[in-house]
Amino acid sequence: MSLVAALDYPLHTLPAAALAPRLRVVLLGCGTVNAGVLAGLDAMASRIEIASIVTRKPRRKGDDRFAWLTDITAAFDTGPDLVIDGLPDCAAAEKALALAVERGIHVISANKAVIARRPDLEARARRAGTGFAYSAAVGGGVPVLETVARLKAAGETITHVRGVLNGTSNFVLGLLEKGIGFDEAVTAAQAAGFAEEDPGADLDGLDAAAKLALIARAAFDIAPDAHAIPADSLFDISTGQILGARENGLRYRQVAELASGADGVRASVRLIALPEDHALARVENEENAIEIRCASGTSVVLNGKGAGQTPTAGSVLSDVRALLAGIKAG
Ligand SMILES: NC(=O)c1ccc[n+]([C@@H]2O[C@H](COP(=O)([O-])OP(=O)(O)OC[C@H]3O[C@@H](n4cnc5c(N)ncnc54)[C@H](OP(=O)(O)O)[C@@H]3O)[C@@H](O)[C@H]2O)c1
Repeated sequence: MSLVAALDYPLHTLPAAALAPRLRVVLLGCGTVNAGVLAGLDAMASRIEIASIVTRKPRRKGDDRFAWLTDITAAFDTGPDLVIDGLPDCAAAEKALALAVERGIHVISANKAVIARRPDLEARARRAGTGFAYSAAVGGGVPVLETVARLKAAGETITHVRGVLNGTSNFVLGLLEKGIGFDEAVTAAQAAGFAEEDPGADLDGLDAAAKLALIARAAFDIAPDAHAIPADSLFDISTGQILGARENGLRYRQVAELASGADGVRASVRLIALPEDHALARVENEENAIEIRCASGTSVVLNGKGAGQTPTAGSVLSDVRALLAGIKAG
């Protein structure tokens, strides 16, 4: 039997996916985000092969379909084409992304802190022509960076960005408004998979500042230092203030803002008591909302799940699909 006869379709009509290369992938971390990514990658098995998965604690009872490692360098030695970073902000994550870029490995990351701190990595990857995407790093499942890119591609000049960008703070503020204690509210955010193991950056405004830094990079081609962006901390506001505002028809929200003017781009993360019918005051739980305004008068408002496994993993998987779509059959 000839080869062509053995196939369901003649060679000249093979779908592109059947000819396109299969990417070997290393997952860095397998917590809230990457456990969802791993499940979603199953559907891409014709294009994706999991080379290894790295976690901090050994997975004795891990799924033995995969090579579970605790050493990031050993994982790189399994020869990946793509690294999907679901690590927290830590030195190991920064080192791993730097190594990936150095070795010409595609990077997809949810790690806004490291991506914001190391603009050089994205610049270097772009120069080398390797993939470097981080849709999930801003807005969880809300396509913030994608919208900024589309507005710019349409010739718009973005002037103003304002929104609730940190799902954890919003979730905690919502519980504080109901009279729930601060520690209990933070624990509930962690249990729901919204907050980091160390939620300090969420509550101090640094997480929102890192997201502003990434939006500023996409919108204004600048790379501000997230730590230099003035930010109000939830630790500095009392439950009494929050409940008092509520009695007066106001709701505290963590509002992140970028404004471009003659004196450059101003950025801030502020806790503001907004009238309860204000669009940002109506953002509930872990939701995010953002308004992007342009010099032309165009204004885009986005709302959606800013954190949690399903929306965040969905954004990572959309980056994977975009990368696969861009890799031509050899
Ligand atoms: N959760 C969200 O809703 C959300 C939304 C947008 C962006 N993000 C970002 O996505 C990233 C991951 O968040 P997550 O919520 O999935 O975190 P997570 O649930 O805490 O999971 C982190 C994973 O990283 C592993 N890990 C931590 N330190 C490590 C090290 N030094 N070496 C090897 N593995 C290490 C952990 O291993 P063990 O399992 O052994 O502990 C765990 O599997 C973060 O950068 C976060 O900011 C999260």
